[in-house]
Amino acid sequence: MSSAEHPSALSTTQIADLQQRAIAVADHAYAPYSNFRVGAALLLTDGTIVTGCNVENASYRLTCCAEQTAIAAAVALHGPGIRIRAIAVANLNATASEPCGACRQTIHEFSTPETIVLYPAADGTVAQATIADLLPAAFLLTNS
Ligand code: THU
Repeated sequence: MSSAEHPSALSTTQIADLQQRAIAVADHAYAPYSNFRVGAALLLTDGTIVTGCNVENASYRLTCCAEQTAIAAAVALHGPGIRIRAIAVANLNATASEPCGACRQTIHEFSTPETIVLYPAADGTVAQATIADLLPAAFLLTNS
């Protein structure tokens, strides 16, 4: 189905733009421990783009992933009602990097049923999946 037929699909230009922004912001990563520099670019449902990069810490577990810093920035800039139309993830290490489990849950928090995730696949291509594909059983808080 083409992007004209499927309103939630991204154009190749939009995909390339998001990827490029993710690569560019990865240059700002603070990753002295892993040397794995990651960038994320969010396309929000209102058309706004917000980026983020990983920020590591000497106490390793305090590290913030790129997806999470991008989402935190988007909420700070645009408020709690943001929804992610698409998120592109890139790294400067020329390798595959799917969003980690924690990031999938964080993306899910601000997703729609059609949120698209773009990430570098093992075969060198950019993989495209919905957040539901990547996290089919997200945690939902259902205490009343
Ligand atoms: N990282 C991300 O930024 N996003 C992910 O989805 C997976 C991992 C970062 C965290 C850490 O700084 C480095 O990559 C190595 O794990």
